[in-house]
Amino acid sequence: MLADVPAAGAARAAAADPAQSPAAPVLAVAGLARAVPLPAGGARSLFSGVDLAVRAGEVVAITGESGVGKSTLLNIIAGLDEADTGSVTIAGQQITRLPEAQRAALRCAHVGFVFQAFHVLPHLDLARNVALPLLLGGAREADALARAGAMLAAVGLGDRAGDWPAHLSGGELQRVAIARALVGRPALLLADEPTGNLDPETAGRILSLLLAQARDNGAAVLIVTHSERVAAAADRALSLTAAGLAPSHHG
Ligand SMILES: Nc1ncnc2c1ncn2[C@@H]1O[C@H](COP(=O)(O)OP(=O)(O)O)[C@@H](O)[C@H]1O
Ligand SMILES: [Mg+2]
Repeated sequence: MLADVPAAGAARAAAADPAQSPAAPVLAVAGLARAVPLPAGGARSLFSGVDLAVRAGEVVAITGESGVGKSTLLNIIAGLDEADTGSVTIAGQQITRLPEAQRAALRCAHVGFVFQAFHVLPHLDLARNVALPLLLGGAREADALARAGAMLAAVGLGDRAGDWPAHLSGGELQRVAIARALVGRPALLLADEPTGNLDPETAGRILSLLLAQARDNGAAVLIVTHSERVAAAADRALSLTAAGLAPSHHG
């Protein structure tokens, strides 16, 4: 489905050689722990002992009860939130140790993120929303908009490039968020319940698109999901609990 989306040289190189070493995982998480403050004071442990490695071309699904900390974990992996202990290494760089400017550069170079809450920007049309990671990465505007248009077509919104986010349904906004996460062909794709707002047919298309990032582009793909179908399609399905990640049994 993505064969007709041209890739920037830098993004392609990142996907092909994300960690400068073919044996190293694109994402390595070790001993991650996080507590959250309680309203009455003090803190409660959300999770601890989270270890995870995701290699190029691999699709890993994470399931778990609501409130267990799945979104928090993805945010920590992307360097958007802080762990209390433990490390996250992306493409050979320990993002948990980097100052914000370098975290942003690492994200820009290697990470695509489909947020649970979309975060589509209301003052930009759909094409510019999707082109944003490319523009922030220094791509020429005409190239970025052309690739954004092709990516919108891949998520079934090819005729909406000039439209505004306010005109879209929740499911359509989710597809814009997915197009934006994929447009730079990231070496690491993080998706937080990416099919949660979609009808079964659209969910199937989006699942194929996410799987293609691994199968065709060699991305490491980590999907938080409540969907049995998504978990079953992944190479590995893990369940997040307070004690960490453990294999979950699907099918
Ligand atoms: N910064 C924070 N301060 C206080 N509580 C938080 C904070 N971040 C997350 N939480 C709490 O941690 C729990 C896990 O949240 P979340 O990661 O969104 O779970 P999930 O995605 O698995 O449903 C929730 O109870 C949430 O309210
Ligand atoms: Mg969540």
